[in-house]
Parts: sequence; structure tokens; C-alpha cells
Amino acid sequence: MSCFLRRGTTTIPEVNLCSSCFKNGACETVPVTLIIVNTGMTASVVFFALGYIFRKRLKLHRPFMIMGIFANLLSALALLFSVYVLYLGDREAAGFIATVSPFWIFVHRFVASTAFLLMFVMAWTGLRHDRKRHVRLHLIFIVLYLFTYITGLLFFTTEAS
Ligand code: HEM
Repeated sequence: MSCFLRRGTTTIPEVNLCSSCFKNGACETVPVTLIIVNTGMTASVVFFALGYIFRKRLKLHRPFMIMGIFANLLSALALLFSVYVLYLGDREAAGFIATVSPFWIFVHRFVASTAFLLMFVMAWTGLRHDRKRHVRLHLIFIVLYLFTYITGLLFFTTEAS
């Protein structure tokens, strides 16, 4: 397994130091953060899908949707903590290498932020039994959330090309 921290390297002629273990080249560190985030987001999509399937049965709909929100929050926390706390804003050093242009990364971020806010609106309208708004918003939420999930999987990798 190649070192995912190779992106955050200090390049001196003939030397390519890992920013985590300071080994030259043959670092064994596994790219874990992207795997954790992708797994957590996949879990949230599965919970949301189950909640949607059981949308007519509130005793199932509610807990599945709440678990989906928690899975999303934990994954988002892992992502932000890794990039901004452990790697001081260096996304690539944290193991998230973009496979597309900065424009598409911007689109992904923008849609992700909108879907994130909408997720809380869905929870709020659901818990308040504001059925009219809840139902009106749910298709927009599904489209934005799936777009964010799929682009997140496709737009980032741990391997530098
Ligand atoms: C924590 C999050 C959520 C909670 C607590 C929640 C709660 C509820 C409640 C209480 C209702 C019944 C409303 C009523 O008739 O008074 C409902 C219905 C519904 N919810 Fe949610 N919900 C949540 C998230 C979501 C999400 C994320 C979606 C879509 C992806 C969604 C889709 C729907 C739909 C389509 C209905 C209407 C079901 C029907 O045809 O009667 N909900 N939800």
C-alpha cells in the first residue's frame, strides 16, 4: 500500500518525506480517512433509503431518518477534523485527492452544504409534523443528497495519479 501522506511531502532532491512518519518513500500508512468518510456516508444513504421505504410507518421512518442524520454528522465530523485539525486545511495531505477540476469541487461543496442544511429542515419539519413542507421538500433533498454522495465517491481518491 502506498503512503497516502505522500501528497503532503517535503521534497528535497532524492528525498520524499511522509509528513506523518517522516519515512522516505516506503511508508506503510493506510489511507483511512477517505475510507471512513465514504463508509459513513454510505451508511447514511442506506438509513435514508430505509426511512424512505418506511415513510408511511412513522415508528420506523423516524428512527431510520435520525440514524441517517447521525451517520452523516459523524462522517462530516471525521472529514472536517482530519482536513482542518490534523492537516491544517491541507485536503490532499489528509488523503482526499481531487480527480476533477476545482470548479467541480466547488459544485460538490456547494451542493453538499445546501443538502446539509436541508437535512436539518427535513428533521425540523418532520418532528413538528409540518407535513406540507416536509413532503414538498423531500424530493429536492433526495436529489441533492444523492448528488453529493455520488460526486463525493467519484471526485476524491486517495491515490495521486
Ligand atoms: C429526522 C428526520 C425526519 C423525521 C423526524 C421525519 C418525520 C416524519 C413524520 C413525523 C412524518 C409524518 C408527517 C405527518 O403526516 O404528520 C413524515 C412523513 C414523511 N417523510 Fe419524514 N422525517 C424525517 C426525514 C425525512 C427525510 C430525510 C425524507 C426524505 C428523504 C422524508 C420523507 C418523508 C415523506 C415522503 C413523508 C410522507 C409520507 C406519506 O406519504 O405520508 N422524511 N416524516
